[in-house]
Amino acid sequence: MADMIEQKYTAQEAEDRLKRLDPRTLALIGKLEEEHALTKGEYVELLGGMGDESAILLAEKARRIREEIYGKEVFVRGIIEFSNVCKNDCYYCGIRKDNDKVERYRLTDEQIMECCEIGHESGYRTFVLQSGEDGHYTDEVLGDLVSRIHDKYIDCAITLSVGERSRESYQYLYDAGADRYLLRHETADEAHYNRLHPAEMSWRHRMNCLSELREIGYDVGAGMMVGSPYQTPEDLAEDLLFVGEFKPEMCGIGPFIPHRDTPFRDKPSGTLEQTLYLLSIIRLIHPHVLLPSTTALGTIDPLGREKGVLAGANVVMPNLSPGQTRRQYELYDNKICMDDDAVQCRSCMDFRMRSIGYELVVDRGDYRR
Ligand code: 5AD
Ligand code: FES
Repeated sequence: MADMIEQKYTAQEAEDRLKRLDPRTLALIGKLEEEHALTKGEYVELLGGMGDESAILLAEKARRIREEIYGKEVFVRGIIEFSNVCKNDCYYCGIRKDNDKVERYRLTDEQIMECCEIGHESGYRTFVLQSGEDGHYTDEVLGDLVSRIHDKYIDCAITLSVGERSRESYQYLYDAGADRYLLRHETADEAHYNRLHPAEMSWRHRMNCLSELREIGYDVGAGMMVGSPYQTPEDLAEDLLFVGEFKPEMCGIGPFIPHRDTPFRDKPSGTLEQTLYLLSIIRLIHPHVLLPSTTALGTIDPLGREKGVLAGANVVMPNLSPGQTRRQYELYDNKICMDDDAVQCRSCMDFRMRSIGYELVVDRGDYRR
């Protein structure tokens, strides 16, 4: 498989490829590699220069820089989708509050602890607790859960991915033992944000949450969808500028995939090609970033996660949620792993990473400064 998707090239083939690449794109890639930053206009140009040759060159550079920092190791985080109740109505998301076809659930504390136990046994050292914005989880309720996990799994990192909350709440959860927080910025352009979300939601508020999380001391994960409706190359260039300025410890990107029961049901998916291209660019902008090869990428292509790692990603996030509820946490259509369990996903991922010459590690997988 490594040969199939990694592809080995002779020196001659590599040289021919460089000759086919247009000189401007080549120069931009060279500048990005050296300076780790381009201007907005240059990012737009680089995105416009996307093609086989430029993608291969970017991926090679991204892999090299990733291997200097993280070697061939792939970090693994177990995601526990503990509630699909959500007060928000993001137009893209399958568990938005207006979707009354979703059967809502909340895992009990016992079920969540059981996920952690199975996860810990099978080698996970980071748990990602993810949910919709569910009012049931007050600071006390969620804080108790976090400290229970923290006390029992002292060798593990706890990541929260539970949306926008107050600064006090973030502080409370941090004090309870959470180490990291994932809150994708979704898009760095305010006008674009407003086309993806109803008026009650505010781009400024979301960006402010990210700053507060950083100030409190969390390792912060931002990120965006690739090919979300109405996204322009300028919007993506803004995202790249944001990544270069804010330097989130993690940056989660994956293709937008429509969900049948949302207003965006008829919008086209983001592409594999563009997602891989962006993964490589982000690695070059921010060499140390933790970059997941996402489930959405694995959904649009059967080898998407492998290809993501070969484009510069260094994290995978298999699902630790119990079987019955997996189907009810469907953010987009055809999400993978619906019929698998935590142990199966772990060994599947182990196999997938080995097949491309990388290795899943039993480790918290901390950001390397
Ligand atoms: N396609 C791809 N990604 C999605 N997300 C939500 N809905 C979709 C979709 N339809 C992403 C968002 C969110 C994360 C949890 O999942 O970026 O932040
Ligand atoms: Fe879940 Fe492959 S990662 S089955």
